Amino acid sequence: MNLLDGKKVSEKVLENVKARVESLNKQPFLNVILVGDDPASKLYVNNKRKTAEKIGIRSNVIELPAETDENTLLDLINKLNNDDKVTGIMVQLPLPVHINKNNIVKAINPKKDVDGFHPENVGKLVLGIEPYFYPATPQGIIMLLDEYGIQIEGKHAVVIGRSNIVGKPMAQMLLNRNATVTVCHSYTSDLDEIIKTADIIVSAVGKKIVRCKMVKKNSVIVDVGIFRDSNGKLTGDVDFDIVSPYCDFISPVPGGVGPMTIASLMYNASKVYE
Ligand code: GUN
Repeated sequence: MNLLDGKKVSEKVLENVKARVESLNKQPFLNVILVGDDPASKLYVNNKRKTAEKIGIRSNVIELPAETDENTLLDLINKLNNDDKVTGIMVQLPLPVHINKNNIVKAINPKKDVDGFHPENVGKLVLGIEPYFYPATPQGIIMLLDEYGIQIEGKHAVVIGRSNIVGKPMAQMLLNRNATVTVCHSYTSDLDEIIKTADIIVSAVGKKIVRCKMVKKNSVIVDVGIFRDSNGKLTGDVDFDIVSPYCDFISPVPGGVGPMTIASLMYNASKVYE
């Protein structure tokens, strides 16, 4: 068993992004909008801001109260779209329920959509046309697999979870790299039987779901889940102790996908479109 060391690889990615930022004529300027005061979202946003600053990306966090209405948020996005200094815009999810997330994502200029969630960027990804930005988590996972020289082409990749943020774009990116992709979700019957046939498993559920010790020999396991167990310890979707002796590569939680997501987002934030 080998570890997919996201912490180590993310440091290398960030070094490269820093060098790239230094070579640009225009300083990237990331604007993160946070609506409400969800503590987890605050933590993520703060982490993004601090990392951006370390590598020379200017950043601005705009905090709005939970009761902000949709039009106020749309006006703000419009203002940022029209501000030439602003090169990246992201709205931290989840949003309060009274705001229609799709309307918000659609309002962001696709050339500033560092999350890669705008329908134009998603559509391009599906069509196999280069989008302005790929979603950060799946892009970070591909970077991690590539860094370890893991072959994707021709492999059976099983993606567990079908969210717009991770599962769906992950499946599409693996398909674009010529994997045979199976997407599993809460209605999938006999998940364990499918897991047994996977060369690559990406689990993004937020529950202990990969417990089966029957993972294929030489399989590669990427654990996107991160939550606290009943003892308050940070853990992932995969039962690491049971599964790790059977696979070839596995990403730890923490220290796997998390740092890669941030590095991948910073890579996106360093892209400046005129
Ligand atoms: N919430 C959880 N993950 C993400 C992400 O990648 N982008 C945004 N905007 N919000 C999130």
